[in-house]
Amino acid sequence: MSTTIQRGDQVVGELLQRINALIAEADVTYDEYQAAKQWLIDVGEAGEWPLLLDVFVEHAVEAQATRRRDGSEGSILGPYHLPDHPFLEPPFELPQRPDERGESLWISGRVTSADGRPLPGAVLDLWHADADGLYSGFSELPAGLLRGKVRADEEGRFAVRTIKPAPYTIPHAGPTGRLIAVCGWHPWRPAHVHLLVTAEGHEPLVTQLYLDDSEYLDGDIAGAVKPSLVVHPQPVGDHLEFEYEFRLAPAPSAAA
Ligand SMILES: [Fe+2]
Repeated sequence: MSTTIQRGDQVVGELLQRINALIAEADVTYDEYQAAKQWLIDVGEAGEWPLLLDVFVEHAVEAQATRRRDGSEGSILGPYHLPDHPFLEPPFELPQRPDERGESLWISGRVTSADGRPLPGAVLDLWHADADGLYSGFSELPAGLLRGKVRADEEGRFAVRTIKPAPYTIPHAGPTGRLIAVCGWHPWRPAHVHLLVTAEGHEPLVTQLYLDDSEYLDGDIAGAVKPSLVVHPQPVGDHLEFEYEFRLAPAPSAAA
């Protein structure tokens, strides 16, 4: 038997056994079964499988995949990353509208290896929501807004200015939203900044930093908050700022 077939039998077979056992334990009715079947069809027709899986499942895969990795903890990528936005020129500031709302937020810190050596020229790709919880590329916001890549200096240090993002709801007008309503949940994610940090010879670090004063830190619908990812911006003059150190694990080939 091939490895793929064995793995399929192990994971899918177990999944079906657990569903079937739950049907008995929870006394699922035929009406509920038919409703669930129609809902699964609706999720596909609405194109919400990526949304549903990124919100409810990706965090478990991310935690499992990185459980033995050295360095900083990461988090889920989510659906709003756009890989092709450009490098910014120093001094780094994420693109904003002239009347951009939201408190000024300065993010600075260092990129190092897991054992603390600075990683000169590391790249930080940042993206986050605006003060209304909207992402450019997925809303009416101007293209490229509040997104950008910056390069760390020869000591692995970086500093970038932006505005404070707001908490936001995942899209909930479709079948995923119906599920959330039926279960009595809320659709909110706490305020966060997404980062993808890369450096030669190291594993990319996909992460999110959560603002400590945000609502929904304890009830993220995506289940992606970890204590080490909560940052504590402090007021300095007319803005807020915080520092963070990103420690990258060696790439598997470099570690070998
Ligand atoms: Fe996000």
